[in-house]
Amino acid sequence: MKIVAFGASTSQTSINKALATYTAQLVEDAEVQVLNLADYSVPIFSEQTEKDIGQAEGAKRFLADIASADALVISFAEHNGHYPAAYKNLFDWATRIDRKVYADKPAVYLATSPGPGGAKSVLGAATQSAGFFGGNIKASVSVANFYDVFDLETNTVKNEDIALQLKQAAAALTGK
Ligand SMILES: Cc1cc2nc3c(=O)[nH]c(=O)nc-3n(C[C@H](O)[C@H](O)[C@H](O)COP(=O)(O)O)c2cc1C
Repeated sequence: MKIVAFGASTSQTSINKALATYTAQLVEDAEVQVLNLADYSVPIFSEQTEKDIGQAEGAKRFLADIASADALVISFAEHNGHYPAAYKNLFDWATRIDRKVYADKPAVYLATSPGPGGAKSVLGAATQSAGFFGGNIKASVSVANFYDVFDLETNTVKNEDIALQLKQAAAALTGK
């Protein structure tokens, strides 16, 4: 089974990428490919730019990498209650190629932030709209207070309840 995991963020120190990677690695007997969204650069979307350049190369590669997966682990970063602009922009380009961006692959949706909100707002937006975009959600978890919960040096989760929720989410991808 191949899992494609990513944080919906272009930050080089993305805590959502760390969370998605950790959770994907909990899936038994899986090969994990972690995407770095900074590798899928696209111009700012406008219909004029689309007329000028056609489909954006970065969005084509993003969709191709998703298509190569048997399952997805995505962790959504939150900027002012929504997707970070860079992710929304890549996503918009991708929807112009295929609205079902997540391709009906079994998926775990996560979200984390350093604060007490745990990026719940963006996670809600992503889960509520999943049906329009081929999101086939098997489990979703918001992780608040990331730096209290996650030890980046040892790549471990310090909070037992969150560790269990993430383990159960990973298991939901395989039905085990
Ligand atoms: C412009 C901006 C807006 C933010 N807005 C929110 C927010 O609405 N809710 C929240 O929980 N965190 C917010 N944060 C903090 C992010 O959760 C934090 O930067 C986090 O590291 C982003 O995830 P990433 O590291 O995966 O990119 C914001 C950060 C920035 C830079």
